[in-house]
Amino acid sequence: MISFTTVNDLSAYIREIKPTKTIGFVPTMGALHLGHISLIEESKKHCDISICSIFVNPTQFNNASDLENYPRLIENDMKLLLENGCDVLFHPSVEQMYPNGLQKNEEDYGQVLKVFEGLHRPGHFDGVLTVVARLFDIVKPHKSFFGQKDYQQCIVVAELIKRKFPEIELHVCPILRENSGLAMSSRNLRLNDIEKSDALLINQALQYIKSGFGQKDLALLIEEAKQIINESKLLSIEYLDVANAINLEPIKNSNTKAIVLAAVHCGPVRLIDNILLN
Ligand code: PAF
Repeated sequence: MISFTTVNDLSAYIREIKPTKTIGFVPTMGALHLGHISLIEESKKHCDISICSIFVNPTQFNNASDLENYPRLIENDMKLLLENGCDVLFHPSVEQMYPNGLQKNEEDYGQVLKVFEGLHRPGHFDGVLTVVARLFDIVKPHKSFFGQKDYQQCIVVAELIKRKFPEIELHVCPILRENSGLAMSSRNLRLNDIEKSDALLINQALQYIKSGFGQKDLALLIEEAKQIINESKLLSIEYLDVANAINLEPIKNSNTKAIVLAAVHCGPVRLIDNILLN
């Protein structure tokens, strides 16, 4: 695996390979787990060269302690990438990514930035849009691979690609779960055993909605799902709702392609999860 830390060095490499090789790109913030590895595997299936970036992007954190406590495990990450056949790692500094100081997207991306994560983490997607656009500009991939766990991020990145990078093909890959059902996340590393066990209720609540969707009154179904999570004193729901899976607007009826999305605080950690309903 070749490792780059500067934009200049990576750009020179990209100029060399791009004419003859297809480039697959997996952007990450590190603390890699099997979910990330599944994205690398998907990239390897579709592309000649797979590039993974590890950069904890300060502009997408709206909470200073979340940024401070975000796990940084570069040695372990490099080992995992090497073992799983990643070709290139890009691991830049903040100065390399933001040579003109920290900036955020100011373009209007409409309603999708104002609901769910957009509503509860103001400015988060403006940070994501900025860093993903910068990474796309540097890496110039043919295809890029994102996880469905950050479902709203996938919608936002699809819109970024439509507006500014129509040449890039977006692949959204399924959520990887532990045997218990817990969605894999770098943040799970910060859960103790009791928190991890209570966090399983999140997936159970989402599954409960999936099993009753289209059969039971939706408001009642959501209320009952919330009660499942509220059984634990360690969990506190930020949102749990069903939305149109294309644009995250409220659904009109159960024939709409729908998704249930949740953000739940578990002890000190904020977890998100989702399941497509039909
Ligand atoms: O999903 C993530 O890990 C981040 O939001 C991303 C896409 C790497 C941008 O920092």
